[in-house]
Amino acid sequence: MSRLMWSLTRHPVGLAGSALAIVAGILLIFFLGLELTGYEGGPYLGILTFMVIPMVFVLGLVLMPLGLFLQRRKAKKEGREPGSGRMPVLDLNLDHHRRRLLIIIGISVVNITLLAVVTYKGVHYMETSEFCGTTCHTVMSPEYSTYRQSPHAQVGCVDCHIGSGAGWFVKSKLSGSWQVVSVALDLFPRPIPTPVHNLRPARDTCEECHWPTKFLGERLKVIPHFASDEANTESSTVLLLKVGGSEGHRAQGIHWHVDPGNRIRYRADEGRHEIYDVELTLPDGEKRLYMPAGGVPEDAGEWREFDCLDCHNRPSHIYRFPASELDNALAEGVIDPGLPFIRREGLKVLEQDYASHEEAQLEIDSRLRAFYVENHPDVLAAREQDIERAIRRLTSIYTTNVHPVMNITWGTYLNHLGHEDSPGCFRCHNDEHETEDGLVISQDCETCHTLLAMEEENPEILQMLRP
Ligand code: HEC
Ligand code: HEC
Ligand code: HEC
Ligand code: HEC
Ligand code: HEC
Repeated sequence: MSRLMWSLTRHPVGLAGSALAIVAGILLIFFLGLELTGYEGGPYLGILTFMVIPMVFVLGLVLMPLGLFLQRRKAKKEGREPGSGRMPVLDLNLDHHRRRLLIIIGISVVNITLLAVVTYKGVHYMETSEFCGTTCHTVMSPEYSTYRQSPHAQVGCVDCHIGSGAGWFVKSKLSGSWQVVSVALDLFPRPIPTPVHNLRPARDTCEECHWPTKFLGERLKVIPHFASDEANTESSTVLLLKVGGSEGHRAQGIHWHVDPGNRIRYRADEGRHEIYDVELTLPDGEKRLYMPAGGVPEDAGEWREFDCLDCHNRPSHIYRFPASELDNALAEGVIDPGLPFIRREGLKVLEQDYASHEEAQLEIDSRLRAFYVENHPDVLAAREQDIERAIRRLTSIYTTNVHPVMNITWGTYLNHLGHEDSPGCFRCHNDEHETEDGLVISQDCETCHTLLAMEEENPEILQMLRP
């Protein structure tokens, strides 16, 4: 043992390697033990335990034999230790040789076990949404905060961003390593550009959980609106959305696009905001090419297979506009519609620019109070709690959707589902994409929904459905 240590540590490289490996090994065992006791140290401890220390440990293990090798070469050059150019001879009949072999095997088993445990747990750890969402705190906090309020809050980041299969797993780990580096060196763009061009096709992610051929039928959608008057007058838009899907042999409605029989490809600009030519292949093999009114530019991008993400581009990181956030909060009653002018004043404070979330919190509070002090002092006194609650909700609306550090403001990430907040469906359904035979992709209002009421107070249809 002592002879082994002696030869390992004679060269400075070997000495450094041994020291690193021993210190890192002890730390690793300590932190893994800590983890076993259930201690949760947060993402930084995770990075330390599963990335930094193991790297140091492996570096140490690599340096040790390198040190031995350098030492032998040096000795050979200096002509000392005759025979040192040859490989060492192992004679199992000799006691101390047997002992040395056993020690080397023993240490290797311990090292390999330790590395295996760390790799296994580390890979597992890096797939948790906690790691993805909080490690690179500033970068990911917008995505994490919108994700946590989305219908997919229980679905892991990796289920959409990586999917299953070894190939994508390795690919994601490679690009993930680069991302860690780019965060450390502050090289990432703000905001993070979208669409994510290397996102895996929806077939391998969304369709692991949702069936494209499931018939979803029609969906009644009630969208609340509130006016800017003193009473915050409520009205509703009621739509019967033809969500559709496949029924029997026939696909229809909005999910007709993703029926396996139909195939749509398109070319668009980098951000997929402007869609150029669209090619539709029908189940019988008939092809239709719809050309845009303005022609196709020279630098039109690659063809992209149309899938779930071309409509559901924000299934998880859903950013909304202040007006619709306010309308929803008022409809839920979290912001009390009985507070005079709260819709108008709420919109005003939300549409301001603030330098940070902290400033937003202070300013929203003082501005809203100032309004009531000046105009409705009686309300401020009588309804302190409701105003307090409104301020809290307004602040959380702001801090979920606007992230000054990442240059994310209202409308940075647009949702294509519909045509209110972005051109969305109208990128194709604009009556201007036309085939040679004069067929167009229709903008007819009845194609996708039946409008049962449009910003009506107490619409008849709702009185009938909710007597
Ligand atoms: C339900 C699926 C889904 C889940 C779960 C999900 N994402 Fe995403 N994410 C997407 C899609 C789709 C896009 C790309 C939108 C586009 O390309 O237009 C995206 C985009 C992003 C972007 C690029 C910036 C942006 O907002 O467009 C980041 C960063 C990101 N996701 C991080 C995360 C993190 C971190 C988690 C877990 C906390 C997560 N995602 C969970 C589907 C998902
Ligand atoms: C790991 C499984 C899983 C994956 C992967 C997944 N989803 Fe979902 N999705 C769900 C679950 C579970 C719900 C239901 C949540 C609920 O009922 O609140 C849901 C709900 C939805 C809804 C309805 C949301 C609403 O407003 O009620 C849409 C749309 C949707 N998913 C689209 C997608 C798209 C697009 C993708 C791919 C980017 C995707 N999902 C990937 C599990 C998944
Ligand atoms: C042409 C655009 C489009 C495509 C492509 C599309 N969807 Fe949808 N999907 C919609 C619209 C619009 C709705 C209704 C949204 C609403 O209720 O507000 C919807 C609703 C849904 C819902 C919720 C159904 C319900 O009853 O609430 C799920 C789940 C869903 N889509 C999954 C998918 C999946 C998975 C894919 C890909 C296989 C896909 N969608 C492709 C537009 C699309
Ligand atoms: C990439 C272009 C493109 C986009 C974006 C797009 N569509 Fe379409 N859509 C088409 C094409 C092409 C057709 C077939 C036109 C035809 O011949 O009727 C179609 C047909 C439809 C139909 C009729 C299906 C049937 O029963 O025959 C509905 C409904 C529809 N789209 C809804 C939507 C909705 C809702 C959105 C947005 C969430 C949307 N589409 C976005 C290209 C697109
Ligand atoms: C290609 C499909 C399509 C066509 C064509 C279409 N819409 Fe829509 N529209 C949608 C979808 C999808 C939504 C719902 C988005 C959502 O889930 O919030 C919507 C939502 C709406 C809303 C509710 C918006 C809100 O937030 O209050 C109104 C109003 C509306 N459409 C009016 C029209 C009118 C008017 C036309 C005819 C010019 C039209 N739409 C044509 C797909 C379409």
